[in-house]
Amino acid sequence: MAELSKNDEPQDATPNVSEVDVVEARSEDEAVTRIEAPVERGEPILQVRDLVKHFPLTQGILFKRQIGAVKAVDGVSFDLHQGETLGIVGESGCGKSTVAKLLMNLERATAGEIFYKGQDITKLSGRALKAVRRNIQMVFQDPYTSLNPRMTVGDIIGEPFDIHPEVAPKGDRRRRVQELLDVVGLNPEYINRYPHQFSGGQRQRIGIARGLALNPEIIICDEPVSALDVSVQAQVINLMERLQDEFNLSYIFIAHDLSIVRHISDRVGVMYLGRIAEIGTDEQIYDHPTHPYTQALLSAVPVPDPDAREQRERIILTGDVPSPANPPSGCRFRTRCWKAQDKCSQEVPLLAVPERFKTSDAPAAHESACHFAEEKDVVHAA
Ligand SMILES: Nc1ncnc2c1ncn2[C@@H]1O[C@H](COP(=O)(O)OP(=O)(O)OP(=O)(O)O)[C@@H](O)[C@H]1O
Ligand code: SF4
Ligand SMILES: [Mg+2]
Repeated sequence: MAELSKNDEPQDATPNVSEVDVVEARSEDEAVTRIEAPVERGEPILQVRDLVKHFPLTQGILFKRQIGAVKAVDGVSFDLHQGETLGIVGESGCGKSTVAKLLMNLERATAGEIFYKGQDITKLSGRALKAVRRNIQMVFQDPYTSLNPRMTVGDIIGEPFDIHPEVAPKGDRRRRVQELLDVVGLNPEYINRYPHQFSGGQRQRIGIARGLALNPEIIICDEPVSALDVSVQAQVINLMERLQDEFNLSYIFIAHDLSIVRHISDRVGVMYLGRIAEIGTDEQIYDHPTHPYTQALLSAVPVPDPDAREQRERIILTGDVPSPANPPSGCRFRTRCWKAQDKCSQEVPLLAVPERFKTSDAPAAHESACHFAEEKDVVHAA
């Protein structure tokens, strides 16, 4: 596609979404076809250990008493390395957004630790917490509701500077916001426009510009493209990849769409009912899954190639996801697992490299929380 300059973008009120999104593609089209270079993984920048979040369930109007708890996150551990993208996938309600909020300190953890460069941020408050928060930012799912409709784009992107004026002193803010608009592929002259004057993809770019404002090291993206059209999704993903390279960002990328997660992630964690079922590199998880839940999820991914489609075995899970207020004993997946045995209801399977693969460097040698972890050829998501 011919390269379009920013001045080609419609300058009048509400732009035509499809036109705008074509314009948006200009700088990322090269990225769509670029050859992916192997990512060199740095030191862990974030270490999450046994993270727990229980929301109390109460009864009574005047005298509330706790009658239980929603175990939204119940012992989650993982590392995030400098410059890498860790994808987190799992069904609705498994605790993905709660993990994101805990990492952002928007929710206080019930138990567990989150080490940012070796410092446990769950214990911080006041100034120390504020300083850390600057380095961990978030991009939200819905670009239609996450931007205040009464604020201009300039005010939205520049709002974090009110809390951290040291990053951009008052006199320098306009220039800095325009720089950020340019970085995310939007015309810096749009600074005085309102969110409704932008398409969904452009709004998500505004959300990303806001996330970048304080020069963070980590960006937590909670379903950042789920609300966008497929063609726009690719552009936003490519933008995020470009920004990651440019600013050496580390991403936690939460999504439902397994293909998108594979595309952007270096490693992937699969969550089920508040816990991580399996975690490994994208190749380990997608091509060599050992946990029955991952295998079932992958077997449901649509496959465009008819031959591959015919060859694959579709695993249909029966039963609903149990309530996180009353999870099954032992392995939480056992009520839907076709391999479940007595041991599965009695012993909680730990997230670890299965004993039988421990001495091997085969792709199956990655962490899986299953007593009977083994490879099963399901499907290879694109
Ligand atoms: N503030 C809260 N109070 C009580 N329960 C909550 C609260 N926030 C989340 N939950 C519950 O915790 C569980 C995990 O929710 P969470 O939003 O983290 O899931 P999710 O994996 O992000 O789902 P989705 O894919 O639908 O966004 C759900 O059962 C949810 O109802
Ligand atoms: S531990 Fe048992 S129930 Fe759980 S996933 Fe493995 S085989 Fe299935
Ligand atoms: Mg969520």
